[in-house]
Amino acid sequence: MTHTTEPDRGAYARDGRKTKGEHHMEIRGHKKGLHRRKFLGGMAGAGLTAVSAAGAAFSLLTDGTRSKAAAATDRILTVPELLEGTTADGTTTFTLAAQTGTAEVLSGVTSSTAGYNRSFLGPTLKWTKGETVLLNITNSLTEDTSVHFHGAHVPPRMDGGPQNAFSTGTVWSPTFTVKDGAKTLWYHPHALGTTAKQATHGLAGMIIVKDDSTTSAALPGDYGVDDIPLIFQCLAVDSAGDIKYDQKGYLSSGLSFPLLVNGENVDDTTLGFSATRTRNRFRALNASPSDIITLRRSDGGTLTQIATEQGYLTEATEVTSIRLVAGARAEFVMDVTADVTLEAVVTTGWIRGGSGTYEFLTVRAGGTDTPENLPSTLNTIERYDTSGFTARTITLSNAGATMKINGSAGLTMAGMAMIRTTLGAKEIWTITNASQLEHSFHLHDVPYQLISINGEAPTGVDLGWRDTYEVVGGGTIVIAMEFTDFADDTYMYMLHCHLLQHEDQGMMASLMVTES
Ligand code: C2O
Ligand code: CU
Repeated sequence: MTHTTEPDRGAYARDGRKTKGEHHMEIRGHKKGLHRRKFLGGMAGAGLTAVSAAGAAFSLLTDGTRSKAAAATDRILTVPELLEGTTADGTTTFTLAAQTGTAEVLSGVTSSTAGYNRSFLGPTLKWTKGETVLLNITNSLTEDTSVHFHGAHVPPRMDGGPQNAFSTGTVWSPTFTVKDGAKTLWYHPHALGTTAKQATHGLAGMIIVKDDSTTSAALPGDYGVDDIPLIFQCLAVDSAGDIKYDQKGYLSSGLSFPLLVNGENVDDTTLGFSATRTRNRFRALNASPSDIITLRRSDGGTLTQIATEQGYLTEATEVTSIRLVAGARAEFVMDVTADVTLEAVVTTGWIRGGSGTYEFLTVRAGGTDTPENLPSTLNTIERYDTSGFTARTITLSNAGATMKINGSAGLTMAGMAMIRTTLGAKEIWTITNASQLEHSFHLHDVPYQLISINGEAPTGVDLGWRDTYEVVGGGTIVIAMEFTDFADDTYMYMLHCHLLQHEDQGMMASLMVTES
């Protein structure tokens, strides 16, 4: 029924990466029983300087008692409010406001932040396949913003890309039918040049799409009870709490790189969640600007992954870890009959940052029920036969801090490379990372299948539908997709690296899908 896969891209990533211009630090090892935040070897000198403030506080590498003492005061996992919208005349309406506020990103230090309907992050939106939704979104910031529905299959004029930016004091009201099946999406700003700034300050939220499939009925789906969002953000903050989001900011001294889970700092705290049912479903979203987050159990056990970014896998798959590049999501279930602690390994993806392992959540067993076996088949995914597909090449490169796709820096709409295609086109794209920097590839509009990853055929969870995938330095992925449903000759979709600083520095191109 289930099988074990552990795709190993790590070796390639280590070989493929060099530390030229930017430093990529690797997690070299993992020691059990140490403090929650473990600083590991392999950091470049610059990185050590950068984390010295945090290092002073958390350098107790041999102190195994500290975590136990801290456990007594552990905080409870915060679950973002669920916004179900109000339904009238066949339309479900959501009201959001992008606004500023303050939050403790670093424990005990107040940061200026932003969020949707609150000071930091936003409510989880619940959409249902087939319903018409309307979002009334007010810009209460002091600058332009847009709200992109990452991973949603929606018309280009409703997609929330740079062309949909709206100014302070105005309301943007996209409306569309939810065509996506059950999956975990998210929403975040996407205006030109300000995405990293706005998202790192807290403008991000999850979207849960429900459907009436038998798979969905068989899986936990009670929000906050047995269906739990986990939003990860690894940020860069100075000692005054000022959130840094760009190259200049990252070069300042005395930075810390806190890891937040649902907005709570887990640098020296393990959050608690008291399960009331045996089987629990977790939806993990890496909302970091750039860092890679790898999830695993502290006891070395497996997680049962059920979904990638774009919905259910064909079958539940036992994995020992789940690697999420910035922007990626995954869903897994755990049958919890004894307390389980989850940990997140942060691998920096951009310039320098906080590599380390964080025990971020203890799930306390409390369910007395015995769950049914998971369905043997969760989904049917027909693999593309790409023989008749139109081929394209997408090259990710840079000249210093200027990031390019197919030779163009997408700093303005006019300056971006534009991909033109037509409704119904089936395409196979070779995405090549011509640099030694870490990148990823995100495509708006439609999900894609991985055809090859650095020359290897995908296996396991890489056979699922994706929308954001790692392209390591010097690496190549081949993906295939079909442009269904939506065409427009004014509004474009975007394709880009989801390291938000790279996106803001130009690693973004546009995609125009026209009728013919
Ligand atoms: Cu999550 Cu084009 O973005
Ligand atoms: Cu990049």
